Amino acid sequence: MTAPAISIQGLSKQYGDLTALHGIDLEVQPGEFFGLLGPNGAGKTTTINILAGLCVKTAGTVQLFGHDLVREYRRCRELVGLVPQEFNFDQFVRLRVMLVFQGGFFGIPTPECHRRVDEILRTLDLDDKKQSQMRHLSGGMKRRALIARALVHRPQLLILDEPTAGVDVDLRKALWALLRELNAAGTTILLTTHYLEEAEALCDRVAIIDHGRIIADDSTRNLLNTLTRETIIVTTTGGLSETSLAGLADYDPTVNGGGDEVRLSFDKASTDYNAVLRTLLEGGIDVTSIRPVDNRLEQVFLQLTGRQGKA
Ligand SMILES: Nc1ncnc2c1ncn2[C@@H]1O[C@H](COP(=O)(O)OP(=O)(O)O)[C@@H](O)[C@H]1O
Ligand SMILES: [Mg+2]
Repeated sequence: MTAPAISIQGLSKQYGDLTALHGIDLEVQPGEFFGLLGPNGAGKTTTINILAGLCVKTAGTVQLFGHDLVREYRRCRELVGLVPQEFNFDQFVRLRVMLVFQGGFFGIPTPECHRRVDEILRTLDLDDKKQSQMRHLSGGMKRRALIARALVHRPQLLILDEPTAGVDVDLRKALWALLRELNAAGTTILLTTHYLEEAEALCDRVAIIDHGRIIADDSTRNLLNTLTRETIIVTTTGGLSETSLAGLADYDPTVNGGGDEVRLSFDKASTDYNAVLRTLLEGGIDVTSIRPVDNRLEQVFLQLTGRQGKA
C-alpha cells in the first residue's frame, strides 16, 4: 500500500498559553482533493504552516508521503507547494524573475528552471505578464502568480490557504477550474477555506476543525447525508401571493425579493418530496424548477456545532 500523502497523529500547537491545536489526527490519500474547513481562529493556518515547515509543532508526528516532517525535513519541503493566504512577495520584483528565483531555492538547474517557468506561465495564462512587476498585476493575476510560484518545483502536494478569500465570483470560478485541472493531473490538494460552499464544490473529502479540534472527517457526500433537514428552492412563473403560501406554513417558507422563488425547509425523516410537491400543486403554484440550497455543508457545520459557520 502506498503511504498517505499526509499523515498527522496527535498534532498539538501551543502559542504561549493559547492551545491552537489539541492533538489532531488527519490522513489525506495521494490524489485526493481535501478540504480543511472551519471558522476564523480554528487552527487551519497553523496546521498547514506546520506541514509547510513555516511553524514548529509542539507535539505529535507528521509524515508526508511516508517521510517524517522533522527527520526528513528537506525531502518534505520538496514535496509541498504552499499558496499562502496573504500576498507575501516583493511588489517590485518581476513575475518571471520571482518564479525563476523560487526554482533556485530548490536547486533546479538553470536551463530546466527557465523551461518550467515558461511552461507554468503559459498554463496559468500569465505569459504576457512575465516581465511585469508584481505590483502591476491585477488581484486575480497575483493569485495565479502565487499558485505558479508554488508549482515551480513540481510538488506532489499543493496546499492552499483560503485561496479565494475576498476574490470575486468570476475569478473564484476560474481558480476552481484551475485547481480541478491540477488535481486531475495527479497533484494532491489540501485547501483551507471558511467558505463551505467552496469545499462542497471542490473537495472529495473534508475535515471540519473548530477550536483546534477535528469535529468531523468524512467524504463530502457522507457529511451531506447526515443532514436531517432538507432545504430546497422552488422557482415559479407567477408572483407568490399570501394565499399561495398559506398551505406551505409547515415548511417555513421564505420568498425572495422578486417574488418568484420560495425557500422551503423540512425534516427528511418525516416529510418526503412527494408531500412537498403535492402541497405546492394544491396551492396552485406553477413550479418551474426545484433545487437544493447550495450551502448544505454550512448546514452540516451548524448541525455539528449549533452555531454560525461563517466567521
Ligand atoms: N503566531 C501566533 N502567535 C500567537 N497566536 C497565534 C499565532 N498564530 C495564530 N494564533 C492563534 O491561534 C489560533 C488559530 O489560528 P489560525 O491557525 O491562524 O486559525 P485559522 O487559520 O483557522 O483562522 C487563533 O486563536 C490565533 O489567534
Ligand atoms: Mg487562516
